[in-house]
Amino acid sequence: MKKLIVEAMSATYEILIERGVLSNCASFIAPVVRGKRALIITDTNVAPLYLEKVKASLTKGGFETYSHIFTAGEQSKHLTTVAEIYDTLAENEFTRKDFIVALGGGVCGDISGFAAASYMRGIDFVQIPTTLLSQVDSSVGGKTGVDTKYGKNLVGAFYQPKLVLIDPDTLNTLSDHYFADGMGEIIKYGCIRNAELFSTLENVDINENIEDIILECLKIKRDVVNEDEREGGIRMILNFGHTAGHSVEKLSEFTLSHGECVAKGMVMIVKASEKLGLTENGTADRIVKLCEKCGLDTSTDFELDVIAENAKNDKKGSGSDLNIILISKIGSSFIHTVNKNDFALYLSK
Ligand SMILES: NC(=O)c1ccc[n+]([C@@H]2O[C@H](COP(=O)([O-])OP(=O)(O)OC[C@H]3O[C@@H](n4cnc5c(N)ncnc54)[C@H](O)[C@@H]3O)[C@@H](O)[C@H]2O)c1
Ligand SMILES: [Zn+2]
Repeated sequence: MKKLIVEAMSATYEILIERGVLSNCASFIAPVVRGKRALIITDTNVAPLYLEKVKASLTKGGFETYSHIFTAGEQSKHLTTVAEIYDTLAENEFTRKDFIVALGGGVCGDISGFAAASYMRGIDFVQIPTTLLSQVDSSVGGKTGVDTKYGKNLVGAFYQPKLVLIDPDTLNTLSDHYFADGMGEIIKYGCIRNAELFSTLENVDINENIEDIILECLKIKRDVVNEDEREGGIRMILNFGHTAGHSVEKLSEFTLSHGECVAKGMVMIVKASEKLGLTENGTADRIVKLCEKCGLDTSTDFELDVIAENAKNDKKGSGSDLNIILISKIGSSFIHTVNKNDFALYLSK
């Protein structure tokens, strides 16, 4: 079993990674929770695949187990779903001692974490992420929340889980599309902090080495978040590729997936910064090749000035400034502040 300890300002918890751990989850959950009652929250795709396994382990471990299943997809990530979860908790007389288990992808983790943060002003929760994206990214860092009609992740809370349990075997049922999506973030981690991870990704069979790859990514996310739990400084490097990426994601009206857009965003910015002499030559080519290996298309149909214009509303800036993340070479990133009106100069096809 691979183990990582996250020491956030507000809490310390472990991330455990092991194939097959789902069937034995109760033995790892028992030591970190206070109560004996668990609400497993999951979605309509994950429930038929893994709910019974988790339930069986918890029941065997002496827990009284309940479940709440919501319709899979980002469209469920809103306050109505959270309200329904509050009702399930209240109907079953959950108290502050009881806990929630989030079994699913990033949508499930974000919703469940927010419900846990707010029900009775906070109850324990455990993350069991089942998508590659949630295993390397969303289950760690403490960001929870939902979308409103005015924007994505507009309402939420910083709230840390008691434990993150990762079973890489769950990736066997994940579609190629969502696997590639997670790879976008994994490539990002290599770019911003770990040249060795990047060359591993270039050279090995990714599926076969996924456990080690997940571990390396989580170390990076943990270290960056530890340094800056509430996102005032260094945590911004996690947004590499995201300013232009979010813009493309919005312009595509969310028909393109997040990881795909991050891949496009990384390539656009590195191509430009290479031309500006801020990045080692040949870096963009390496990123393009690796993205292609992972099934991520890095080309962009939208005009660069349209992408830049769209990015002006990005929340990651203050006043007329925009903080963009650049890399000097694979593995080394820095924050670069530009005038919002100049952002197009930092994009290239
Ligand atoms: N909190 C954070 O720090 C953070 C970071 C990044 C992204 N996010 C959020 O994460 C969400 C995206 O996460 P996601 O891509 O995991 O989306 P998701 O939870 O919708 O999962 C993607 C799809 O895969 C299905 N699925 C999940 N696990 C599966 C499995 N093992 N086998 C087969 N199918 C499975 C789901 O039902 C869904 O259809 C977004 O809402 C985003 O805002 C949060
Ligand atoms: Zn992202």
